Amino acid sequence: MDMISKIGIAGGGQLGKMMILEAKKMGFYVTILDPSERCPAHSICDEHIVADFGDEEALRRLASSSDVVTYEFEHINAQALLRLESEGFLIYPSAGSLLLIQDKLKQKMTLQSAGIPTPAFLPADSRQEIEEAASLFGYPLMIKSRFGGYDGKGNLILASEDGIDEALYFSKGKKMAEQWVDFKLEASILACRGADGRIAVYPVAENTHIDSILRKTRAPAEISRELTDEAMNIAEKTMHAFQGVGMFCIELFITKSNGILVNEAAPRPHNSGHYTIEACRTSQFENHIRAVARLPLGDPSLVSCAVMANILGEDGACGPACASGLDRALEVPGASVHIYGKEISKPKRKMGHVTATGATLAEAESRAAAASSFLRMTAGALKMED
Ligand SMILES: Nc1ncnc2c1ncn2[C@@H]1O[C@H](COP(=O)(O)OP(=O)(O)O)[C@@H](O)[C@H]1O
Ligand SMILES: [Mg+2]
Repeated sequence: MDMISKIGIAGGGQLGKMMILEAKKMGFYVTILDPSERCPAHSICDEHIVADFGDEEALRRLASSSDVVTYEFEHINAQALLRLESEGFLIYPSAGSLLLIQDKLKQKMTLQSAGIPTPAFLPADSRQEIEEAASLFGYPLMIKSRFGGYDGKGNLILASEDGIDEALYFSKGKKMAEQWVDFKLEASILACRGADGRIAVYPVAENTHIDSILRKTRAPAEISRELTDEAMNIAEKTMHAFQGVGMFCIELFITKSNGILVNEAAPRPHNSGHYTIEACRTSQFENHIRAVARLPLGDPSLVSCAVMANILGEDGACGPACASGLDRALEVPGASVHIYGKEISKPKRKMGHVTATGATLAEAESRAAAASSFLRMTAGALKMED
């Protein structure tokens, strides 16, 4: 196989931008595809195809101008990627992995048949199916859109049978019902699979979500050796189940009885893995680039404790983004600030993050809290949200 020197990335958001920063370190030529002319990755890519993620012709142009195509998020035209793959274009993670993962129901079925523990689930497209799920799993019941969800958009908590009509129509498209998990904590584990099949597994990290949006990640998770080993084993099994090449993130629920259930997998670097940039020998972005370029993977081990906190767009306003407080935040020892460069700030939009390292988790945590207390992302021309 020829050497890879050009990488195409579908998506030019912050994950694409952070992939490019690593790709550039190793001398790759990078083309992105993103509908937004001034997306975060725009300023540092070599070429930008401005087109929708569903645009097959544009995806074909991306593939033709690259030796390998990868993606920074999963809501793209997987059927088109499948066709491109069958014509001989190299796509990592494969279109097959993406097709399984895009559909939350097929994703869970794949995990289940690989013997990986998940919350119980059933399809939920009719009143009868929801009633059946409720009779088996009880209320509250988690209803999820099978396609297109992120940051909790696409999920609905069904408290009782009174809400069934709403649950059937709260979003378009097919749905599934999931047993409610009263978890002790949420964690995630990142893993990268090389083209040679070798797998690098990162430490388990602990995540805090507010309103289904990730706010904070702590690494390493303060869980027992047994749970850590089990999570790592689940990560390896998941990589085999999806035959992934590249970075994957596996979101986990740790139950009150110390069991692990897989919530979902993402076939890409992940927000909960941003701590790896400062705290691991090889970041999730570098390993992703290494994997898709068919190069050997780097050491994922942790070199210090780390806490990552997201910087979200301020509430109540939407407009040109304006970051402030960088000067004060960077006075905090061990703190690194990442501003994504999104043009528009919107309430709760992910605009940047801070990672603080420390000798202990407590030290990293207080540094991250101090640095984030100075950082604000405001919307320039203040316009109240309607
Ligand atoms: N079965 C469940 N029981 C309890 N909470 C859940 C369940 N599924 C999801 N959640 C909560 O909702 C959040 C978002 O759900 P998730 O399925 O990860 O969707 P998304 O694609 O939006 O990330 C999770 O991080 C978790 O906090
Ligand atoms: Mg999730």
